Amino acid sequence: MITFTLSAILIIASISLPFTKSEPYEDKEALLDFIRNIHHSRSLNWDTNFPVCFLWTGVTCNSDNTRVVALRLPGMGLRGSIPSNTLSRLSSLQILSLRSNGISGDFPQDFSNLRNLTSLYLQSNKFTGSLPSDFSVWNSLTVLDLSGNRFNGSIPPSISSLNHLTSLNLSNNSLTGEIPDINIPSLQQINLTNNHLTGILPNSLMRYPSSAFSGNELSSQIAIPPATSAETPIPQPARKPRGKLTEPAILGIVLGGCVVSFAAIALLMICSYSRGKNDGGLPTTKTRLKKKKKKDIGGGDGKSNKLVFFEGCRLAFDLEDLLRASAEVLGKGSYGTTYKAALEDATTTVVVKRLKEVGVGKKEFEGQMEVVGGIKHENVCPLRAYYYSKDEKLMVYDFYDRGSVSVLLHGM
Ligand SMILES: *[C@@H]1O[C@H](CO)[C@@H](O)[C@H](O)[C@H]1NC(C)=O
Ligand SMILES: *[C@@H]1O[C@H](CO)[C@@H](O)[C@H](O)[C@H]1NC(C)=O
Ligand SMILES: *[C@@H]1O[C@H](CO)[C@@H](O)[C@H](O)[C@H]1NC(C)=O
Ligand SMILES: *[C@@H]1O[C@H](CO)[C@@H](O)[C@H](O)[C@H]1NC(C)=O
Ligand SMILES: *[C@@H]1O[C@H](CO)[C@@H](O)[C@H](O)[C@H]1NC(C)=O
Repeated sequence: MITFTLSAILIIASISLPFTKSEPYEDKEALLDFIRNIHHSRSLNWDTNFPVCFLWTGVTCNSDNTRVVALRLPGMGLRGSIPSNTLSRLSSLQILSLRSNGISGDFPQDFSNLRNLTSLYLQSNKFTGSLPSDFSVWNSLTVLDLSGNRFNGSIPPSISSLNHLTSLNLSNNSLTGEIPDINIPSLQQINLTNNHLTGILPNSLMRYPSSAFSGNELSSQIAIPPATSAETPIPQPARKPRGKLTEPAILGIVLGGCVVSFAAIALLMICSYSRGKNDGGLPTTKTRLKKKKKKDIGGGDGKSNKLVFFEGCRLAFDLEDLLRASAEVLGKGSYGTTYKAALEDATTTVVVKRLKEVGVGKKEFEGQMEVVGGIKHENVCPLRAYYYSKDEKLMVYDFYDRGSVSVLLHGM
């Protein structure tokens, strides 16, 4: 018994003696205030008698043990809100991970004191309320993961002041409003999926895969820059197919490819008139339209080159006409280039979307075009025809002259 006590004393002494001098005393107090005021279901060895820098679970100090620089408490069963004026006193903190707990309440306002934060992991908790409005206070931040919470409100534009940020994850929250222009050259990864974001994707974010924005209510994945007046012929195909056309991408193309004009209101009326007849049933019209369904026009090199028209459209031209048309670039998006093409017959103007890097096979492409062509919605420009060959994929829409559909929808 005596030997045991003696050795215990020796062990404690040998552990604590060399370190007690250089304890970050105030940081230790802050940590104790934190843990005493939040529910945690897993026990922590945060004993006042133990040296904080050497024995406390999840705590890392700087090299001279004068400050706590990292706190990692993932999956500790923390519940309730973060008590104010506790962690915020760890002013040298660089890494804070409280991920995968059950922490609720608002984003702690006093975290604005943690000016040296480089990584903040608060994902998979139950935080509510809005994101902090001024992100500029954390200008060393490189990783910000707030995914899997219940944050609502909009994404503050100040997030773009984080000019060292490399990874931003706000997925699986309840964020609303438009995505601000987040133009951060260092940003490598962004994930805004599964929120309720609306509006158009800003140009600055188009370099990221569209999957980073899925699960929202964005009106377009592709915004069309203002039309240029430069007249260029549609260049001949050259690209190797690559990448994959996802369904949101196709919807994006449909919406993005839509350009609205007065001229085509007439066209639309013609189209809906004939569609109406089709529904109502003048037998003569019906047969004629039926014959017209999926009229295939050979483009010169056998079965692979076909311009496929959808039912109920009066457009009549072939691929040759289309390629000879004088084309004007309306916009370049991540899925390809959009042209306004005026056919030589001088009465027909269409919008042609030339898709690039589409790695899908003919069958799959056709299937997806049938889905897109089947969409009948007042805000979605109907797809009139498409074209598939190994090197070239085109989508043909009616031409409208009043900016993009999203402009009409959002009155900008
Ligand atoms: C924050 O980091 C800077 C640069 O590394 C350092 O000079 C400063 O002392 C740190 N601030 C705190 C409160 O530790
Ligand atoms: C966010 O949610 C809170 C409830 O958690 C609610 O009071 C607040 O109005 C919501 N804010 C927005 C902008 O929806
Ligand atoms: C974002 O967070 C989700 C869920 O926490 C995770 O599955 C995903 O890998 C993260 N994405 C990035 C780019 O960090
Ligand atoms: C994100 O949300 C989606 C849909 O709500 C859900 O299926 C998925 O499991 C969530 N992912 C994470 C990592 O929480
Ligand atoms: C984004 O996060 C979701 C879950 O929140 C995940 O399923 C998805 O793979 C992530 N996407 C990217 C591009 O990281």
